[in-house]
Amino acid sequence: MKSAKIIGLGKYLPAKRLTNFDLEKMVNTTDEWIRTRSGIKERRIAAYGEAASHLAYKASKIAIKRAGIKAEDLDLIIVATVTPDSTFPSTACYLQSHLKAKNATCFDISAACAGFVYGLINAWHFIVSGMHKNILVVGSEVISTLTDWKDRSTCVLFGDGAGAAVLTATKSGGFLSSHTGSDGSQSDILFVPGGGSRKPISKEVVDKRLHFIRMKGNELFRTAVRTMVVTAKAALKKAKIKTKDIDLVVPHQANKRIIDAVAKRLKLPMNKIFLNLSRYGNMSSASTAVALCEAWEKKRIKKGDIVLLDAFGAGLVWGSCVIKWI
Ligand SMILES: CC(C)(COP(=O)(O)OP(=O)(O)OC[C@H]1O[C@@H](n2cnc3c(N)ncnc32)[C@H](O)[C@@H]1OP(=O)(O)O)[C@@H](O)C(=O)NCCC(=O)NCCS
Repeated sequence: MKSAKIIGLGKYLPAKRLTNFDLEKMVNTTDEWIRTRSGIKERRIAAYGEAASHLAYKASKIAIKRAGIKAEDLDLIIVATVTPDSTFPSTACYLQSHLKAKNATCFDISAACAGFVYGLINAWHFIVSGMHKNILVVGSEVISTLTDWKDRSTCVLFGDGAGAAVLTATKSGGFLSSHTGSDGSQSDILFVPGGGSRKPISKEVVDKRLHFIRMKGNELFRTAVRTMVVTAKAALKKAKIKTKDIDLVVPHQANKRIIDAVAKRLKLPMNKIFLNLSRYGNMSSASTAVALCEAWEKKRIKKGDIVLLDAFGAGLVWGSCVIKWI
């Protein structure tokens, strides 16, 4: 056993569509502003009570079926989420119960928008070490519950969804390399100030709307471009892969202009970049998960392809991995 490979992918998007035109009726914004500044046209919104584990369950069922295994064959479930069903237990444990995956160990990862990529990298190493055999990695978010629907600078950017992948061992190909990094000194660029142990939920927290996302968009934009380029180059170097040999990049889908800038700096044509953010917005950890699944469903990824996953998010955190698809 030399590496890990992905043997099944699944996705789930809640039914409710919220278009830019709908947002025009909620805050002082326009479809034109949202489209030109971010590339987003619409996003999905979960129904009240439709939690991260419910979205994860629907995506996971598809991934497990496509992997050709049973839920009982899973020995590890990792859920990346910043919108867990509840503070504890983990969303992975709730998901285990929905799936009846009774032989799995379960835990969550908190790495915001890079969570799915962090989850895949963890799973790969658990497989290579021989500790686990069949691992389910899920990015699932109900970001609409953290969104301040009165703040036009953030509410236009996010959406809900889930994507799942099943990994197992492989003798050739699969995960070739990864790179990750974090900078906790920049945690206030994108964060939720209230509702945690620093500022427990209270009337004051709610009145000041501190339980919702706060973001310094401009600073984040610049850092996102820089870190996505750094982490992609580092992972490619480790894998000894040249940029020209990449078949498809699946980037975190935060903003089309961020992705354009990253592609330009990596000297990659846009036809090698998978985009779906116009339909879903930024779904945090679910973004790369859903994008990877859709890229595969649309046959943009085929056997032998070199695929680069590239993500960044609140923390700040960033990470990428290179996969030879088999
Ligand atoms: C948020 C973002 C789209 C804003 O784009 P921008 O070009 O930087 O825009 P600015 O923040 O400079 O705002 C420009 C103006 O538009 C206004 N504006 C902000 N949101 C608006 C909206 N939804 N509709 C209309 N106007 C808006 C601002 O108030 C500002 O007005 P002012 O010049 O009168 O003060 C962009 O900074 C971004 O995408 N940043 C990264 C966000 C991200 O990736 N987050 C997730 C990370 S995982």
